[in-house]
Amino acid sequence: MVEASARALAGTNRYPDASGVALRTTIAQWHGLDSSLPLTLDNVAVGTGSSALIQQAVLACCRGGDGVDGSTPDEVIYPWRSFEAYPIFAMVAGAKAVEIPLDAELRNDLGAMAAAVTERTRLIIVCNPNNPTSTTVTRTELEIFLDSVPDHVHVLLDEAYFEYVRNEKSPDGLSLLDRYPNLAVARTFSKAFGLAGLRVGYLIGHPEFITAVNQVSIPFSVNSVAQAAAVASIEARRELLARTDDTVAQRTRILDRLPESLQGQAEANFVWLQLGDRAREFADALAERHVVVRCFDGDGVRITVTDEAETDALLTALDVVGIDDFARR
Ligand SMILES: Cc1ncc(COP(=O)(O)O)c(C=O)c1O
Repeated sequence: MVEASARALAGTNRYPDASGVALRTTIAQWHGLDSSLPLTLDNVAVGTGSSALIQQAVLACCRGGDGVDGSTPDEVIYPWRSFEAYPIFAMVAGAKAVEIPLDAELRNDLGAMAAAVTERTRLIIVCNPNNPTSTTVTRTELEIFLDSVPDHVHVLLDEAYFEYVRNEKSPDGLSLLDRYPNLAVARTFSKAFGLAGLRVGYLIGHPEFITAVNQVSIPFSVNSVAQAAAVASIEARRELLARTDDTVAQRTRILDRLPESLQGQAEANFVWLQLGDRAREFADALAERHVVVRCFDGDGVRITVTDEAETDALLTALDVVGIDDFARR
């Protein structure tokens, strides 16, 4: 990957391939094997991270109300709490954000999301696994949901953390594409493929939707180094994906150490602790022991799972700060 990036760097006096043909073709060939649809590059959009593609999808689907003629904005439904950028994407498009609280197990509440559809709904984002709670829905639940969503409402399944999922009941969005023409699946090279700094993500779906998403892209958005590195990372995927097993092993160690009341599902490369109003105190106590976690004040903390040495440090810090006491309070 480094070599491919270095070669591409030598040619950066030229513009990148605006259509990302080599990368889109490579993605189509790779996922053509596990997708329920025969894939060509027309089924694939690439963008500067899956963030860009999700924002483009909102822009492509939703028209904002202009406030002058009194027109009402289109609606985008998404789970909450979830990826912090979703509200920003809705705002950028001028769409009305319809945030649906997670269910009691901190998963996307698909029943409530389907029930929230109105005549103004244009797009529903499903985040699986959900960031930051690390929870998944089942394939059956997703199918029931997709069956109940009207055909003209698009569903974007955000699978940024797909490669870390080990729960066999969790769906692979690509296997559902043939049955749902309104479904598209977003994935990224930022997480399991280790290219976060280069900013490349992709969206797989039906050609009309992919065309609409591409139409609102910034020209030449994915640079040539990122395109080359992403192709090389697909070629090296066996090695890269094998590394997710190491992350999953550390995730299991963390889960095993948690008191039962804090043990939920963890299917991404982070673990969520639902600590409510103890979250800030807990995060500060860990920070004093040089362990930095993401605190969502009044709600919980997200602990990113990394390598064995950092997990050792985390487990020691959990003992020192008294995780069991935090759980009891
Ligand atoms: C749920 C989810 N989706 C999408 C993204 C976007 O990732 P990227 O833009 O790096 O592909 C993130 C990043 O944290 C995320 O958590």
